[in-house]
Amino acid sequence: MLQCHMHFDIFTLFPGIFESPLRESMLKRAIDSGLLEVQLHNIRDYAEGRHQVTDDYPYGGGGGMVMKPEPVFSAVETVLGFEMSSAMRNEAEAAVRQPNSEIPIILLTPQGRPFNQQLAFELAGYDRVALICGRYEGFDERIREHLATDEISIGDYVLTGGELAALVILDAVIRLRPGVLGDPTGAVDDSHAGGLLEYPHYTRPPEFRGWQVPEVLLSGNHAKVERWRREQALRRTWLRRPELLERAELTDSERAFLQQLSQKE
Ligand code: ADE
Repeated sequence: MLQCHMHFDIFTLFPGIFESPLRESMLKRAIDSGLLEVQLHNIRDYAEGRHQVTDDYPYGGGGGMVMKPEPVFSAVETVLGFEMSSAMRNEAEAAVRQPNSEIPIILLTPQGRPFNQQLAFELAGYDRVALICGRYEGFDERIREHLATDEISIGDYVLTGGELAALVILDAVIRLRPGVLGDPTGAVDDSHAGGLLEYPHYTRPPEFRGWQVPEVLLSGNHAKVERWRREQALRRTWLRRPELLERAELTDSERAFLQQLSQKE
């Protein structure tokens, strides 16, 4: 199995937010085994002047502050431009080049494309991704228009900044890369991986406070277990997230099973 590493550049005013999540569990293991590299870039380091200001009042008035364009452009162009200039003969050309289109430059914002498992798979296909975390009321629109190549939202709610959203994306994407999960099939059955919610899980003991593990799981009959799981996944999706079934890939017998459910329940 090819196990090449994935590189995230995270642009933020609060790099400290990332410290402990990167030091625990799967993200730590991925970093330690060389499958993940995360570089944190403090946008403030790229702000000019003694006070290194990164925000300013909105033109036109109104409440809140807006992220200034200069430090964000400077941070992203310096970090990603370094790679580009090494690949290019001429420094002047590097300076005017648009950011490398091989590296998505993603703005985290509630206005972005909704993040889901499909988008996680899409991002896992890149070897390098840049994430820009905003603070304050929003970004100067020129960052959106002329620097970012994509905008992603992790849900219809407003966070104080993009950092937690970046961590969510980092976690969901890196676990899809070969070698990151101990079990190579680990991500295959996940809820949402095949467009359905996952089937219920049980472990020992077979009886706990009088509650039994379903008989079929103790039977040792793999074909029966597989069928039960698939039916449970379908049933659970039908009950909790019926809209997911519209896009799921289903066989004729699975459709018939759902038909039966809707008549019974
Ligand atoms: N920044 C603030 N809220 C956000 C959200 N819901 N998704 C991504 N970035 C955000």
